[in-house]
Amino acid sequence: MLKLEGVSKVYAIGNMTVQALRAVNLELSPGEFLAVMGRSGSGKSTLLHILGGLDWPSSGRVLWNERDLTTLSVRELARWRGEHVGFVFQSFNLMPTLTALENVELPLLLRGISAKERRIRAREQLEHVGLARRASHKPAELSGGEQQRVALARALVSDPAMILADEPTGNLDSETGQVLLRLLRNLNERGTTIVLATHDPEAAAFAQRIIRLKDGALLLFS
Ligand SMILES: Nc1ncnc2c1ncn2[C@@H]1O[C@H](COP(=O)(O)OP(=O)(O)OP(=O)(O)O)[C@@H](O)[C@H]1O
Ligand SMILES: [Mg+2]
Repeated sequence: MLKLEGVSKVYAIGNMTVQALRAVNLELSPGEFLAVMGRSGSGKSTLLHILGGLDWPSSGRVLWNERDLTTLSVRELARWRGEHVGFVFQSFNLMPTLTALENVELPLLLRGISAKERRIRAREQLEHVGLARRASHKPAELSGGEQQRVALARALVSDPAMILADEPTGNLDSETGQVLLRLLRNLNERGTTIVLATHDPEAAAFAQRIIRLKDGALLLFS
């Protein structure tokens, strides 16, 4: 479904460069649950950003069913992302002034879906993550685990084929983290492709396949 061919990423700051990814080849199968492990700075987030069309590689190709995403314009890539990918980040990234329900509705608003349908679909996703009773709470009125479940509901509301989760349990205690990981596993069992970046072996154990990055390169024997 999604394939990286010789993907490298070089960041330049002033006259310094950082090679964040080195010639990464990776094939993601539909319905797979993949964990990406590696130390801080090894390139996990960079890899997820490129997989999800949030950033471009410096070289190499990103193929989505034979279509090279690196040739798309900013707009086209944004549309592709909106249709196919849901993101969950370590820091939740919820809008502080919106309620839980409104946060979940947001991706649908950006896609021009009617208010009525937005509300129905957002409620459904909040129910799915067990937060129907917190719909009118703002992020600051929710626990960390609840905020992350709202973020997951927001990622799910546009029914993406793929969820990219970057250290989603990094700011949660281990029990709360397990709740989120079980939700991810649940989704995966129903067909959603999951890519989870983590440095926690217990979290990675939820995946079917684990890959490891070291200094931006994929380790062959991991
Ligand atoms: N926007 C940027 N500009 C310059 N350098 C960057 C940028 N983003 C990341 N880097 C560098 O690229 C390398 C890979 O970063 P990345 O965020 O992918 O690592 P990571 O594996 O996700 O680390 P962590 O576990 O700490 O989240 C690091 O050395 C980092 O300093
Ligand atoms: Mg990271």
